[in-house]
Amino acid sequence: MRQKVVLITGANGEIGHGLIHHLANNTDANIVALDVNPLDKSLRDLCKTYIVGDILDQMLLGRLVVEHEISTIYHLASILSTKAEYNPETAHRINVEGTMNLLRLAVEQSQWQGNPVKFIYPSSIAAYGLPDLKQKSEVGAVKEWEWNYPTTMYGCNKLYCEHLGRYYSSYYRQLSADFGGTETVDFRALRFPGLISAETTPTGGTSDFGPEMLHAAAKGEEYKCFVRPETTIPFMVMPDAIKALIDLEKVDKSRLTQLVYNVTSFSVSAQDIFNIVLEAFPDAKIRFAVDDCRQRIVDTWPESVDDSAACEDWDWQPDYNCERSFHEYLIPAIQKRYQ
Ligand code: SER
Repeated sequence: MRQKVVLITGANGEIGHGLIHHLANNTDANIVALDVNPLDKSLRDLCKTYIVGDILDQMLLGRLVVEHEISTIYHLASILSTKAEYNPETAHRINVEGTMNLLRLAVEQSQWQGNPVKFIYPSSIAAYGLPDLKQKSEVGAVKEWEWNYPTTMYGCNKLYCEHLGRYYSSYYRQLSADFGGTETVDFRALRFPGLISAETTPTGGTSDFGPEMLHAAAKGEEYKCFVRPETTIPFMVMPDAIKALIDLEKVDKSRLTQLVYNVTSFSVSAQDIFNIVLEAFPDAKIRFAVDDCRQRIVDTWPESVDDSAACEDWDWQPDYNCERSFHEYLIPAIQKRYQ
């Protein structure tokens, strides 16, 4: 008998770290971790197995299915927004084709098992694109279906993959004779704001100025914040991001009225983060040195998102507001980490 497992792609990333710790400590899930780089040593004992490989490698995915019965996929692997702009076509392959490979795998698994495989997909505020700063300051909290005009390859990829998720869950091979006979993939997506973790720093994102400011200050390193002080976007700390993933995974499907949900905790400006960081680390060597290209990207992201659908449908509620995020989680944990 093949063992039931939870597959996590991009396991080495920021969300992967948090999620693996959570699942290993709080559930009896058998975790199969997949990443292009060897899994972080601290995570290895927490997983049933880890695989070094590429989500574009069809053979590798095929072998996964031979060996495991996958009940849930957390598809975290992705090239983030800044990095993706350096090689948009490669990013497209990884972000879109990689996701399609996993969606196909999920459909096949669902058909074999006669049960839907859950496919949990972190999307992003990068799926939004506001045309100018005037609109950004006037529109307020955006709803899932508003302003879906991303300006980055990453944002386009995320938005399109949300649609692919809908296609694979409801319309895949809709002209085939046996269409509609079996349950297929149960796709659920979250649009995350900028994420901040005390344990890891992101690589290649454009919301990275938040976490980078904090980690650099704690390490006593100089940091040049690449956006203007008044730049405001929503943020969330990693424990809340993990909570959102877990809560969305476990809610009964009958309660879900949509496939894609905004989630958020607090919206702050770069200046707000600067002030909080400086109060905690008075010797911090941070200055603002705007990178026009990255600024342009953040300027298209909303100041806040409306997560009322998530609150209503699956009782979403962040545990950490801004005050708690910094003073009860980030600052104490980061101080300890770099002591
Ligand atoms: N944190 C991501 C990025 O900056 C947005 O989802 O690319």
